[in-house]
Amino acid sequence: MKSAQPSIVVIGSGVAGMATALSAAPANVCLICPTHDGSGSASALAQGGVAAAVGADDSAAAHARDTLEAGAWHNAAAAVGWLTGAARPAVAWLEQHGVRFDRDGEGNLQLGREGGHACNRIVHAGGDATGAALVRALQECCHGAAHVQWRGSREAVALLLRDGHVVGVRTRDADGRDESLEAAAVVLATGGIGALYAHTSNPAGAGGSGLSLALAAGAELRDLEFVQFHPTALASGGQHLPLLTEALRGAGARLIDAEDRPLMAGLHPLGDLAPRDVVARRVWQVQHAGGAAWLDARAITGDWNRRFPTVLAACHAHGLDPRQTPLPITPVAHFHMGGVATDLDGRTSVPGLFAVGEVACNGVHGANRLASNSLLEAVACGRRLGRMLAGAGTTPGSARGTHRWAERGPALATDALPSLRELLWRVAGPVREMSELHAAWHRCNDAAAAGWQMRVATALLRAACRRRQSLGAHYLQGAPA
Ligand code: SIN
Repeated sequence: MKSAQPSIVVIGSGVAGMATALSAAPANVCLICPTHDGSGSASALAQGGVAAAVGADDSAAAHARDTLEAGAWHNAAAAVGWLTGAARPAVAWLEQHGVRFDRDGEGNLQLGREGGHACNRIVHAGGDATGAALVRALQECCHGAAHVQWRGSREAVALLLRDGHVVGVRTRDADGRDESLEAAAVVLATGGIGALYAHTSNPAGAGGSGLSLALAAGAELRDLEFVQFHPTALASGGQHLPLLTEALRGAGARLIDAEDRPLMAGLHPLGDLAPRDVVARRVWQVQHAGGAAWLDARAITGDWNRRFPTVLAACHAHGLDPRQTPLPITPVAHFHMGGVATDLDGRTSVPGLFAVGEVACNGVHGANRLASNSLLEAVACGRRLGRMLAGAGTTPGSARGTHRWAERGPALATDALPSLRELLWRVAGPVREMSELHAAWHRCNDAAAAGWQMRVATALLRAACRRRQSLGAHYLQGAPA
């Protein structure tokens, strides 16, 4: 029998939200999910795997070094040390929760390679469908867990504050019916902001709604200017583009230009497997010089259906066969390193409000996330936050005291969203220019009342204007590094 009175409300049903909910047992958790069945999270689309130093010649220290290097040393070093050390236990926890990682004939975990990693370190489940495998397994656990109450087809529209503490949330269903829930802790696990860009690998729901709630509640935000662009989405037109996982390059695929010349020659010691910001910039610059970039995966042998089923299906859907022909590529908005400022336990600057996964910024990713560290962060930080909340005592506080609702407010009109997305893509993309950032910031700030997406964009552009030097994914044309 599942309790109707939650102690903890988790907003978001991706891997971070579900890991938090499962680890918070025996506290009662209500998990709010925008779709009825938990589909639509960025986690489910993740083609990369879980980065973990499980190989014989690898170590958490080496994983930490690569994470810091990719992050342009802007990371919180202690947080990186903790995360990379938590990777092995995270993989074991996932296995206990039903995830079957890919293994070789001898039963050893198969380790793939992606950009920025000095060695093979990525574990996958179902080849390039790892995110979907994790979501499936954790959903099954959540549905079977007596302490987790699943509330689908609802979005969070306001946070309840009493004497400066978050003590509840108001949700709305598709028919506009509101429901208020009081809780001792509210956890934002709402994902990133890719859908605010004209081209993205993220799902439609990744539009920054969690950030907008945190903004409304007055929570501190951090590093918003650092948006990661993935260099290899299939250039198939439209906003939401299929990813061509970096693991393809780890398995031998090469980046080439229209004349079949290697795109990354002489640009970085790791070549095609350079950190993502470096490769995304190169592809962007080639495109902006009037050229085109391609991913040639024809050298990859072996069973594509087992290793890269997601890529294969996406290519087939567009009439392409990656085994026969190079694929046209473009960068896409992929991951937000910035977010609601938290410590490693997920505490924000507002008591009672927590954040975990992509919506949070605890400093592990620095100025550019290392490949396959996001599912790792979602699992490791979700587990840590859930356990902390379970141990912290989760009885909703007294009903006395002044209270107010921090409202997200109305969304931007549907016909205004495309131009905001085009603006962010052009101005706050892989290559930026300070005068354009300033003009866009003022334009968005003047229109901030038009909708919550505009306020999120304003905050992002403001942060980008304040960082006057290039760092990691925040690359300013002509500015010193
Ligand atoms: C990819 O598979 O290339 C993306 C993995 C990630 O975002 O870390």
